Amino acid sequence: SSKTSLLNDLGIQIPSWYMTLPLPLQIVIGLFGSLTAIIGSNVLRQVALPQNKNLPPVVFHYIPWFGSAAYYGEDPYKFFFECRDKYGDVFTFILMGRRITVALGPKGNNLSLGGKTSQVRAEDAYTHLTTPVFGKGVVYDCPNEMLMQQKKFIKSGLTTEALQSYPPLIDDECEEFFDHELGLSKTKKSTVKVDLLKSMSELIILTASRTLQGKEVRAGINGKFAQYYEDLDGGFTPLNFMFPNLPLPSYRRRDKAQKAMSDFYMKIIEDRKKGETDHEHDMISSLQGSVYKDGVPLTDRDISHIMIALLMAGQHTSSATSSWTLLHLADRPDIQEQLYQEQINYFKKSDGTLGPMTYESIKELPLMDSIIRETLRMHAPIHSIYRKVISDIPVPPSLASPSEQQSYIIPKGHFILAAPGVSQMDPRIWSNSTTWTPERWLEEKGVGQTAVETYTKSEQVDYGFGSVSKGTESPYQPFGAGRHRCVGEQFAYTQLSTIIAYIVRHYTLKLEVPTFPETNYRTMIVLPKNPQVSFTLRKQEV
Ligand code: HEM
Repeated sequence: SSKTSLLNDLGIQIPSWYMTLPLPLQIVIGLFGSLTAIIGSNVLRQVALPQNKNLPPVVFHYIPWFGSAAYYGEDPYKFFFECRDKYGDVFTFILMGRRITVALGPKGNNLSLGGKTSQVRAEDAYTHLTTPVFGKGVVYDCPNEMLMQQKKFIKSGLTTEALQSYPPLIDDECEEFFDHELGLSKTKKSTVKVDLLKSMSELIILTASRTLQGKEVRAGINGKFAQYYEDLDGGFTPLNFMFPNLPLPSYRRRDKAQKAMSDFYMKIIEDRKKGETDHEHDMISSLQGSVYKDGVPLTDRDISHIMIALLMAGQHTSSATSSWTLLHLADRPDIQEQLYQEQINYFKKSDGTLGPMTYESIKELPLMDSIIRETLRMHAPIHSIYRKVISDIPVPPSLASPSEQQSYIIPKGHFILAAPGVSQMDPRIWSNSTTWTPERWLEEKGVGQTAVETYTKSEQVDYGFGSVSKGTESPYQPFGAGRHRCVGEQFAYTQLSTIIAYIVRHYTLKLEVPTFPETNYRTMIVLPKNPQVSFTLRKQEV
């Protein structure tokens, strides 16, 4: 037939028995054969051909293009630690056609998070994921220099005065949530079993909206806002990260919700401009009137999109962190009791009642501080931080291959990946690195204290949003480091410790699953699987 003669012309011999098979079988065998040939040649190329000595080693993989996607995606830390053993601190892996170079350890973190804007860019790595969700003109849809100024505007909305006003509001939301929503009270139920992640996600959005987002957002939580949020969130997944535009309903819902959410904030701003709403200490009021260095003011649309970005940035990170912290407390009744004692020691008044949590007190509660720190060490919500490499980055021999004194480059076009979670759980740095040990942070001059010192007191740099500690070489950096360092850290600590204090004052926690929950890495944020716990009213409350 013409088919066989064409293949013959190409020098491919088709056995005659193959041509006698039914067509479907020919197709199956043909596909299988081609796949085997592709995998075979890919394997052969990796094991038999010499690797380019000027580039980082490439992680062995069977399927071209797909590369190590399954290995990395299932458990990134297992992947990073195993690859570090084989290839050292710097190696490249293939992820659905992209070349990702991982740089581990404090020096590796410094290479990407401390990289110059002429070498690495966050916006080129993230914009396809974030712009359809946040909206245009802000964060990664503008030059880095503008993002730095937006971070400055955000910081001015998170003043000490603003943060001081939040704990009573958060407390109030906690009471409303546990008493009314969950029905935990003297007159109703004394024990309630919940999916902790679901409950914490609700409580985090309630408390963030009551404080930072503003009362109109808080009022909208039970209405349309919740649906917009859910649909937007459905567009913030690893699938969206890998494939920015697919013809799927979730992508269409994301785009509709972005517009609706943006209009929702625009209406708040317009209504406020018209007059009467009282809105002290929230972010919208602080962003209004912000002006870039070149004299251009933030538009109302920019403010709306920054508000969406803040909502998304704080929601999953804080829900995950509060859930993991409470899971560890549920697993360690002894620490729950110590935390309760810490609350009593610090807050007990002469009439026997406990005084209110305050912004200042958070810094005075060493155990509270330690349980959050330790949880962030083991469960950093973001396991992979990406940058696009826009000009070749030289890797010194001390990091590339210390034994062979070989240096190489990470070439333009690669992505560079920082995984601060690896140095945070590195057994070479931390004793009992995979065991939740809050006490380690109480040791004077211990590894933890030294790491925090480097993180918070290292070289001070102003990237455009006020002076911050560079922190890129610390083995502990849950809030990132360098120019993209988090500006929500103080807010997160205030929110988390006020919620946790409320909980330990009123309830005891118990795990309602046989073993401590495992980790789900298939979401954007590192989450616990099936986190069932029960809350029980403390005796004096019954
Ligand atoms: C950046 C973690 C809460 C706003 C970051 C980064 C990390 C991080 C690792 C660096 C990302 C990168 O380098 O690509 C966390 C954790 C949180 C938390 C662990 C809670 C436990 C918040 C909250 C807000 C917020 C509550 C808002 C109020 C931001 C912003 C950036 C950022 C604006 C800057 C992004 C950039 O410059 O590219 N955060 N965050 N975060 N975070 Fe947070």
